[in-house]
Amino acid sequence: MRESKCMEHFEEMGRSKRAKSLSSNEKVDYECTQAKTRTGRVTKVCLDKANQSSLGSGAFAQVYKTKYKQKSGESGVVALKESSSDLLPLKEEISLMSKLSHPNIIGLKFSFQNGKSWFVGMEFMEGGDLYHFIKDNYKRKDGAGIGVFCELFGYQIFRGLAYLHSKKIVHRDLKPENTLVSGETGALKLIDFGCSKKLREGQRDTYRVGTKEFRAPELLLHTLDSTPPLDAWSAGVIMTEMGCGKPIFGEGPTDDWDQYLRVVEFLGEPTEREEEEMGSRKRTSRSMVDLFKRGNCCKEIAKKGRSKRRTSSKASSKPIKDVSSHLTSRSAVHDVSAFTDLVSGILVYSPKKRTHCLDALAHDFFQRVRSPAEFDLSLPNGKPLPKLTDFTDEEISFMSKSVKKILLADRKKKR
Ligand SMILES: Nc1ncnc2c1ncn2[C@@H]1O[C@H](COP(=O)(O)OP(=O)(O)O)[C@@H](O)[C@H]1O
Ligand SMILES: [Mg+2]
Repeated sequence: MRESKCMEHFEEMGRSKRAKSLSSNEKVDYECTQAKTRTGRVTKVCLDKANQSSLGSGAFAQVYKTKYKQKSGESGVVALKESSSDLLPLKEEISLMSKLSHPNIIGLKFSFQNGKSWFVGMEFMEGGDLYHFIKDNYKRKDGAGIGVFCELFGYQIFRGLAYLHSKKIVHRDLKPENTLVSGETGALKLIDFGCSKKLREGQRDTYRVGTKEFRAPELLLHTLDSTPPLDAWSAGVIMTEMGCGKPIFGEGPTDDWDQYLRVVEFLGEPTEREEEEMGSRKRTSRSMVDLFKRGNCCKEIAKKGRSKRRTSSKASSKPIKDVSSHLTSRSAVHDVSAFTDLVSGILVYSPKKRTHCLDALAHDFFQRVRSPAEFDLSLPNGKPLPKLTDFTDEEISFMSKSVKKILLADRKKKR
């Protein structure tokens, strides 16, 4: 299980209260309640508790599938996320979600508070999360990977992120578990904004966020700025998981340093300039890597170094300077060279030089899904691809001239 970490201090504080609250048998009657819709209107919402089933539970909340009815006559099924304590960040997540409306972001339907618990009713997404989608597909013996879904889902991740970034929001916990997908329709929606943050000029965090496997190197080196390139890095790692069946830096790092060494093993050591651009204070990363290499480090690092050497001797004896060679040998994607080019532009140390999410949409790797008619491309079940170039004026206003030229040209082509 790849655990998110959003609020370190807060997590410690909330743990005992949360455990108590979740295990409590206290019956809360929330069948009908006053709730707020996305637009802020107050309305009566009734939830059918008898039809409630668990969809999943993460570090901060539980999610159920529930039938609902609204006073307006609207009814259907929602994914109901419940936090069991007002200490938890669901209230902030709701506030953030209420500002979002995009085909690749899960939609908020209503929210309410009951006692200490916060609830949010979201559009229900049939299909499951990307983590299980990848695992299930790579179990198949034909070695075909996830085929067209790698492009399809990758594109939608970047589009959802580009939208968030245009609103000055950073997701900060992007991973396949927080990405819902449908193999039937090819749709993808980002979820879980519990770690997300609206950027404010000059504001720095006091804690690190996200899930180790998907943390950008500057975050692993304890940089506390939350910027869009953090999400771009996570999306790059997800691309490798889709293209190769596993995240390129492996799974289950023991801590940030272990993960950082895995990155160094792939990309080679960062240059001085790259370290500066990662905001690393006092050239921490280089001196740590040097110590690690000389086996001359403090006890803790030495221990990690030894276990690292054990694992790395299996994979590679010296660092690979370029991520592309490794991808090429493992990737099951349709255009390996475009794939490696895309990923290599994202998995770079310098956050400044990392490909922007909006620019990634215009990359050649996504050419087939941008103009499916031209490539006679459909889903494996024969259905057409979902709409991918139905950009709003707002989305277009953030595109550079060159990106606009590619994305809007593909939009004009017959689907
Ligand atoms: N809108 C939804 N539709 C279907 N399943 C969902 C939906 N939202 C969440 N889930 C399921 O619940 C799990 C936990 O939701 P998430 O929002 O990530 O909670 P947490 O903050 O606890 O990680 C997800 O991994 C997913 O399997
Ligand atoms: Mg989650």
